[in-house]
Amino acid sequence: MSDTPPVCDYEGSDYRARFWEGQGRDYEDQVERIALRRLLPPTGSTLIEIGAGFGRLADEYRGYDTVVLFDYSRSLLREAQSHLGNDPRFRYVAGNWYNMPFVDGLFAALVQIRTLHHAADAPALFAQLARIARPGGIYVLEFASKRNVKAIARYAARRQEWSPFAQEPVEFVELNFDFHPQWIRNRLEEAGFRPGRMLTVSHFRLGVLKRLVPTSWLVKLDARAQLTGNWWQLSPSVFVQNRHPVWGEPAAPGTFFACPTCRTPLGAAENGRLPCPNPACHHVWRLEDGLYDFKEPI
Ligand SMILES: C[S@@+](CC[C@H](N)C(=O)[O-])C[C@H]1O[C@@H](n2cnc3c(N)ncnc32)[C@H](O)[C@@H]1O
Repeated sequence: MSDTPPVCDYEGSDYRARFWEGQGRDYEDQVERIALRRLLPPTGSTLIEIGAGFGRLADEYRGYDTVVLFDYSRSLLREAQSHLGNDPRFRYVAGNWYNMPFVDGLFAALVQIRTLHHAADAPALFAQLARIARPGGIYVLEFASKRNVKAIARYAARRQEWSPFAQEPVEFVELNFDFHPQWIRNRLEEAGFRPGRMLTVSHFRLGVLKRLVPTSWLVKLDARAQLTGNWWQLSPSVFVQNRHPVWGEPAAPGTFFACPTCRTPLGAAENGRLPCPNPACHHVWRLEDGLYDFKEPI
């Protein structure tokens, strides 16, 4: 797996405390939830959040029978596990989104919020998601848009070299990318998804506004402004609802995990081990204290 693109590693990070808790981001959290509720069917069978972190949005998925919180960081998944308790609907799975450890056609709903900016190879990621998506389902993707008002103003004032109108992604800090909405739609289509409704989000993400205007007002205004997203996108955050590819079969009943190396379906864990039955592979994966670990074989 050494030929996979580089990963932005959050292992051991204090992401929750540093970025969310008491950090003045109630506005962002609330408007993202509004957009998510508008685009995600409220109930369903299997849902996966890709790059779920510490499970900030997990309470939005309570209408689903099985919810996978998938992330590269074991420590963030442990935080999710500790605050969600023993709810049997949740499964905590550590792995790399370029090598998804699931059988084809498994998930009715895919959700990805605040993570695509770490994807050095978004098309490779979309190809993996198209594989594990169940035909007929929905993929809700949020991405950081390079064509936002602040970037346009900086570019016009010659305070920024890259053009917000150029389609290719911009890596503004190592492993942090902003994307052009049209580029994203094109790559999603190439992967087989059918991009549809768009919502623009976080229009008022400005320190001075957030200090002067009550959060509840900004949230209400943003909720209205989100609805213009199908016509133009000038906000720093954009949500797009995609229909899953029509090809492929739903996963066979009773199958769930697949070896991330060779994609052979795996049986149930025994004594904390998930051996790959493919004799040419024979990797063994781990289940430890409720966390399925596919980052590297035992
Ligand atoms: C900014 S955090 C967002 C967490 C969560 N979606 C939220 O909005 O609170 C980005 C997350 O993406 C995860 N991530 C980055 N690269 C990944 C990869 N290659 N595979 C799986 N997860 C990855 C990180 O571990 C981190 O938890």
